[in-house]
Amino acid sequence: MRILGIETSCDETGVALYDSHHGLMADVLHSQVALHAAYGGVVPELASRDHIRHLLPLIEQTLEQGHTTLDQLDAIAYTAGPGLAGALLVGASVATALARPRHLPVLPIHHLEGHLLSALLDPSAPKFPFTALLVSGGHSQFLSVERLGDYQLLGESVDDAAGEAFDKTAQLLGLPYPGGPALAKLARQGNPQRFKLPRPLLHSGDLQMSFSGLKTAVSQCVATHTPDDYADIAASFERAVVDLLVSKAEQALRQTGHQTLIVAGGVGANQELRHSLKNHLGTQGITLAFPPARLCTDNGAMIAYAGWCRLQQATQCGSLPLSSPSGFTIHPRWNLHDYSSTWQPS
Ligand SMILES: Nc1ncnc2c1ncn2[C@@H]1O[C@H](COP(=O)(O)OP(=O)(O)OP(=O)(O)O)[C@@H](O)[C@H]1O
Ligand SMILES: [Mg+2]
Repeated sequence: MRILGIETSCDETGVALYDSHHGLMADVLHSQVALHAAYGGVVPELASRDHIRHLLPLIEQTLEQGHTTLDQLDAIAYTAGPGLAGALLVGASVATALARPRHLPVLPIHHLEGHLLSALLDPSAPKFPFTALLVSGGHSQFLSVERLGDYQLLGESVDDAAGEAFDKTAQLLGLPYPGGPALAKLARQGNPQRFKLPRPLLHSGDLQMSFSGLKTAVSQCVATHTPDDYADIAASFERAVVDLLVSKAEQALRQTGHQTLIVAGGVGANQELRHSLKNHLGTQGITLAFPPARLCTDNGAMIAYAGWCRLQQATQCGSLPLSSPSGFTIHPRWNLHDYSSTWQPS
């Protein structure tokens, strides 16, 4: 089976081709980072227009790379939510327009399910069940994942997401948007012990997290120091986030009893986080799985793969929710539980 995946939920146009025998056959991405950089964040209207400009050429490129024609596809998966409404509509309408005349299933995928399953794209990846740490620009969550679609939220950030904290802190340090990779690069030259930044909710006893106080502490540090100290501030900030995530991950694994931790989302690309998780949990016999760094942020591969997982499951249970004959669906706000219930046999 061969699935085309389309991701347009925010500021990346991603298209990929996944084949159930050959794996990932093509994966192309157009990032809008340069387009939004001047504004310090994503401008929704500009994002939608840019998806319109790039999506069809990217689909052609993907099919060419994967030596596949539209008529050889078995289904088209697209990100149906959550995300920016206008941006989601571009992916949804193109997926539906291409699939409908060919009588192909259209698979509306939840963006976070895409992130969650991205580490499983590797044929040697661990299998269900696992505990997931999802740390992206909009989310910081621990989930217990027993099987496809069985996602139990264990705890999440009560304020900013970890990626958002990286971006806002980077902005305080005068680094370009998106700040995560730039801050991590600067942190490599700094001393992570120099500033004693807070670790909010470290000892809360549950899996709730908080990152906004950390950002405030950094802003006070920045106000009383010079740019010569910024590398140390960046390193101390990164250390605080990593300490928090590693400690909570250890607690999450104790709670679920799982032997596997899967890390997904943009912050999952952070090398310090990966090293610390390996040092602390890998040595306790926990199996750790990370997607390749380029698949941590938004991409079409995770949507094509999630589409394949859902198609396979739905075919087995006879519950394929083809989009309604008169239109297609998007869900700018959507929780994973409501999403999973759309795949239950009626
Ligand atoms: N190496 C890194 N270190 C820390 N943060 C990083 C790194 N690389 C990317 N990020 C952060 O990851 C975030 C982007 O991740 P992602 O694309 O998964 O989020 P999103 O799609 O915007 O949010 P969501 O998936 O929750 O809707 C940004 O906040 C970015 O700064
Ligand atoms: Mg994302």
